[in-house]
Amino acid sequence: MAAETEKDPVTGTETTGHEWDGIKELNTPLPRWWIIIFWLTVIWSGLYYIVYPTFPGWKGIWDYTARKDVSVEMKEVQAGRAEWLNKLAAASIEDIGKDGELLAFAMAGGRAAFADNCAPCHGSGGAGGPGYPNLLDDDWIWGGTLENIQTTVTHGIRWAQDDDTRMSDMPRFGVDEMLDKSQISAVADHVLSLSSGGAAEGEGAEIFAENCAACHGESGQGNAELGAPRLSDAIWLYGGDKAAIVETITKARRGVMPSWGGRLDEVTIKQLAVYVHSLGGGQ
Ligand code: HEC
Ligand code: HEC
Repeated sequence: MAAETEKDPVTGTETTGHEWDGIKELNTPLPRWWIIIFWLTVIWSGLYYIVYPTFPGWKGIWDYTARKDVSVEMKEVQAGRAEWLNKLAAASIEDIGKDGELLAFAMAGGRAAFADNCAPCHGSGGAGGPGYPNLLDDDWIWGGTLENIQTTVTHGIRWAQDDDTRMSDMPRFGVDEMLDKSQISAVADHVLSLSSGGAAEGEGAEIFAENCAACHGESGQGNAELGAPRLSDAIWLYGGDKAAIVETITKARRGVMPSWGGRLDEVTIKQLAVYVHSLGGGQ
């Protein structure tokens, strides 16, 4: 305990009285500039608290909150969007493509809605997979016009909860004993020959004409009205090897797609149709 203050002979500064092995601690005062800034920040924080308090229920004197700023900005954005959404609602689906800006807006909305709702089945880019059609090509099971796509998306495919859903069931030729194994094998060979360009004559061709042509067309060209895929190309929904084709003929596949009419609003479905149509093979 230092009873009286002692001055350091070299600097003239008071010591604190603490001493270690002959080294004394000086009691250097804080610089004036530092103290001034310190008090300025104290005053600043007080003023700040009056303007912009953090205490729940307190209002600042200018009644400012960042939340209000955000909600004003959000309203502006929504008003901007609402204008475009109204335009989309009013435009016929064919007309959307004629207005570049409107098309860009529809495409952006369609892309987002596709990622949210369709990508799990059709793939994030729309390339599909076994049982889920590729939406990038110009091969359409149910038709590839804007209107066709809009109908497909609105009402779904074989979706029991929607009365206007796209319906058509390929018969289960094997399971229901309409054709025996050797007939199925023969007609599967015929389907393979159709897809590779040549249409073989023989038993398979006869079975095809009698049992399959009504839906798939005489030369396997398909029929979008009935959702019967074209068989005369190399694009397969369920695989193009003989085993997959035999299985399709034996059991039928009856792929299901949910209807979106009840879940997404009309404008979103329009945006989706425009987006899907633009992916590649819109007709
Ligand atoms: C649960 C899986 C599933 C989801 C989710 C799904 N689809 Fe599908 N989609 C299918 C299946 C399966 C088919 C083919 C059905 C058939 O055999 O005809 C199909 C067919 C289609 C077709 C018809 C293709 C053609 O060649 O005619 C379009 C268009 C389509 N989907 C668009 C969409 C869009 C847009 C969405 C998102 C809103 C979507 N799908 C979500 C399963 C799905
Ligand atoms: C009532 C109409 C109808 C008849 C008749 C019919 N099909 Fe189909 N077929 C369809 C539909 C619809 C599909 C779509 C697949 C699905 O069920 O999702 C299909 C799908 C197929 C596929 C799968 C194509 C692919 O891309 O993977 C093959 C192969 C096929 N049919 C062959 C036949 C053969 C062979 C016959 C005659 C023995 C036949 N179909 C009779 C309606 C029919």
